Amino acid sequence: MLLSLVCITDARGGGGGGWQPVFFDVTQFGAVADGKTDNSMVSNLSISMQCAIQSRDSILESMERSVPLEGKSEDMDSPRGTTWVNSVIFRGPCQGPMVLLINGTLMAPSDPKLFMSDHWIGFQYVDGLVIKGGGTLDGQGLSAWSYNDCFTNSQCKPLPVTMRFDFVNNARIRHIRSINSKNSHFNIFACNNLNMSHIKISAPEFSPNTDGIHIGSSNNIKIAHSVIGTGDDCISMVSGSQNIDISDVSCGPGHGISIGSLGRSPYEEHVTGITIRNCTLNGTQNGVRIKTWAPSWPSVASDFKFENIFMSKVNNPIIIDQQYCPRPNCDENAQSEVQISNVTFKNIWGSSSSKVAVTLKCSRIVPCENITLVNINLSYDGPGGGPSSSFCSNVRGQTIGTQNPPGCL
Ligand SMILES: *[C@@H]1O[C@H](CO)[C@@H](O)[C@H](O)[C@H]1NC(C)=O
Ligand SMILES: *[C@@H]1O[C@H](CO)[C@@H](O)[C@H](O)[C@H]1NC(C)=O
Ligand SMILES: *[C@@H]1O[C@H](CO)[C@@H](O)[C@H](O)[C@H]1NC(C)=O
Ligand SMILES: *[C@@H]1O[C@H](CO)[C@@H](O)[C@H](O)[C@H]1NC(C)=O
Ligand SMILES: *[C@@H]1O[C@H](CO)[C@@H](O)[C@H](O)[C@H]1NC(C)=O
Ligand SMILES: *[C@@H]1O[C@H](CO)[C@@H](O)[C@H](O)[C@H]1NC(C)=O
Ligand SMILES: *[C@@H]1O[C@H](CO)[C@@H](O)[C@H](O)[C@H]1NC(C)=O
Repeated sequence: MLLSLVCITDARGGGGGGWQPVFFDVTQFGAVADGKTDNSMVSNLSISMQCAIQSRDSILESMERSVPLEGKSEDMDSPRGTTWVNSVIFRGPCQGPMVLLINGTLMAPSDPKLFMSDHWIGFQYVDGLVIKGGGTLDGQGLSAWSYNDCFTNSQCKPLPVTMRFDFVNNARIRHIRSINSKNSHFNIFACNNLNMSHIKISAPEFSPNTDGIHIGSSNNIKIAHSVIGTGDDCISMVSGSQNIDISDVSCGPGHGISIGSLGRSPYEEHVTGITIRNCTLNGTQNGVRIKTWAPSWPSVASDFKFENIFMSKVNNPIIIDQQYCPRPNCDENAQSEVQISNVTFKNIWGSSSSKVAVTLKCSRIVPCENITLVNINLSYDGPGGGPSSSFCSNVRGQTIGTQNPPGCL
């Protein structure tokens, strides 16, 4: 059994006994774990999820205890079998929580045309979810990346995301690896109280749009103890990301940890309360970044803390870019209306591969307010040598403690 869906029933109604796991073995739904057979039948799993669950007053702890796992099955590197899985959606509401164990390698179909929707494995409207098992999700992106024409074609059909969570509350995802996703590895939308830890993500530096974890319209999201190397942002947070806590994440290669792009659409939800601590960025295009479109719609981005972060040869270690416009023919005079305020960068050290290690390029019409830099030590490590420098425009704030490069606030 390689992919097992476990629904937990509360047997107490029948005279005590606590939580009883009910196993659904994918092989019972026609899946063959031989690494060759295309298990389209696995999509029947979404039917099995409408399972015989009695109660919803559960505690995730008791769920986890009640699921037997092989001794070493949380180890990332233990060799397991391989099974192919077509696109699946686990759609609630389920009347109780569920656990998905993945302890082998699941391979996505390589042809993007075989996907029914914009993702490979999706969870929607689930309250109470645990995903674990030490298994690997192989998105088989290599063959699909060349279909990505989103840089030149604004009508492009996005490639499928490896795992999507929409309207999922009270979830824990851990000890899962994702490799070579076709689009983002994980996408979190409209979720509340979702924690991810011990996640390993990898895709080559050249793979297009392969964000590690993309978050939007979600509250109380925690990401910890994870290693991400990919072709786009390691973690990106867009409109409506609130109370996000990221710690002990190592990122590289990739485009860094980004808030934005913000301000592209009208009435965007505010982005507030993001803390990023104890992270390492190695060889990435950006370190910690806030980017907003210019011109843009008005919105608010505030209350961010970037703390205890080590950078090794990062191109733009600290960057606020309110002139973000990746398309050709941008209007240099256009200004962003996203108000950025209350941002602290504290204890950030290491090396920059470009001379400008700190860039605070804010909007002329809504300048950045209350930006604080505390103990920054970023040296230039690149051709020609010499000191690093900083760039500021339209920003108000303060510097405290060591400032290398010298502050420009
Ligand atoms: C996966 O885990 C299940 C449940 O613990 C176990 O029965 C099975 O042998 C495991 N499979 C592999 C390939 O480790
Ligand atoms: C996620 O982590 C936070 C902080 O440790 C904790 O309060 C919350 O209960 C956790 N949520 C879940 C679903 O485990
Ligand atoms: C970050 O690292 C510091 C110093 O090692 C440690 O005291 C703190 O608990 C860590 N915080 C998180 C959230 O990992
Ligand atoms: C950065 O990554 C490179 C290439 O993988 C590796 O050789 C190097 O040791 C890493 N540096 C740090 C400081 O982790
Ligand atoms: C500046 O921002 C910090 C947090 O980033 C906050 O604690 C402080 O109160 C703010 N100060 C003002 C004057 O807004
Ligand atoms: C910034 O911090 C100050 C002081 O804590 C607070 O009064 C203000 O409302 C904050 N700004 C935003 C946009 O949250
Ligand atoms: C800044 O970092 C350099 C190494 O890159 C180190 O030699 C120096 O002591 C550091 N300065 C401070 C004030 O921490």
